[in-house]
Amino acid sequence: MTGISRTAQTMPYTVSKLTDFSSTALDAAVRELRSALDRESKDIRSETDWKVFRDRWMARKNGILTQINDSWLKASPKDSRREVGQRVNWIRAQVEDRVQKVESLLLELATGKPLGDFVDVTLPGIRRAIGAEHPVIKTMNDMIGVFRNLGYSVGEGPEIETDFYNFEALNFPPNHPARDTQDTLFIAGQDAKPLRDRLLLRTHTSPVQIRTMQKMKPPVRVVCPGKVHRNDALDATHSPIFHQIEGLAVDTNITFCDLKGTLDHAMKAMFGSSVKTRFYPSFFPFTEPSADVQISCIFCDGKGVRDGAPCRNCKASGWIELLGCGMVDPNVYGFVDYDASRVSGFAFGMGVERIAILKYGVDDIQLFFSGDVRFLEQFS
Ligand code: DAH
Repeated sequence: MTGISRTAQTMPYTVSKLTDFSSTALDAAVRELRSALDRESKDIRSETDWKVFRDRWMARKNGILTQINDSWLKASPKDSRREVGQRVNWIRAQVEDRVQKVESLLLELATGKPLGDFVDVTLPGIRRAIGAEHPVIKTMNDMIGVFRNLGYSVGEGPEIETDFYNFEALNFPPNHPARDTQDTLFIAGQDAKPLRDRLLLRTHTSPVQIRTMQKMKPPVRVVCPGKVHRNDALDATHSPIFHQIEGLAVDTNITFCDLKGTLDHAMKAMFGSSVKTRFYPSFFPFTEPSADVQISCIFCDGKGVRDGAPCRNCKASGWIELLGCGMVDPNVYGFVDYDASRVSGFAFGMGVERIAILKYGVDDIQLFFSGDVRFLEQFS
């Protein structure tokens, strides 16, 4: 501390007349004045406070600066004048600087910026935006919810898979070009390994079917959400990373009827009860028979025409293709030690982004991965 008495700290500062002009006495007087300046400037809360402060220290007529000029400098003996003058100049600079600083701090305060010593607790705080579930995750969770309500459990598998799980056990013949049709990203440097052990980034969630069946005996009802990778070039509808939800139900006496009823229900739960489904013959190595599921176009209500023009979303067909499915091929049961003569089942796989695009009217799949808050906050 500077040796100021308690009275000096609590009472308003007044300029004392100097009788002793020694360096020590001058220094003490300057210190007292300087701490009064600090104290008083800390109490300023408004423009009115600041004006009072400015005038008290700088008013030409009877401000503190004028007073020290009169009662210190003019009253000093000739041989101390130089020393007193230096101190008075220093004080003047300090006061002018402080008055100006406080003014700019007040201005900052008015514009909402936080300030060191001058915190107005009544000002609103800095808002931190609350995050939202990513639309892809939300769509995934919604779809999982539909199947949970039907008694399905949720399974997961690794994103780095072996050729065995991603292809072989799913009845893709060895060295068959079907592997190429999925634009697989293989992990480098594995040529020495047998084909089935080579690692790759899974191209679909179907390998989780195999992992699930290896782990448990029928009855099985499972949905498997997850990320998949393909060596696809980016465009508005393709991304090298996307998400799928796989489904598998295996039990005794499961028929194509069960498959149709289940997926028809799921599509209605996702897109609304007026949506119709259509099963269109297709091919997948791991299902026989296989089908693509189409839903009636949600943009033109399946009419193929919207606002007098051909509907662009369904290419005027009235139908939108949404997922692949089928009855599990008996060959697949051979890979997991299920008795193909006793059990039957169905499987399906759907792209999550594709569903989100339709549900939310998104026109570019890249928006899901660009991390642009302006896009994402629309889903909060
Ligand atoms: N895995 C397929 C794909 O990514 C989708 C699929 C089709 C999954 C039919 C299935 C299915 O389970 O039965 O193209």
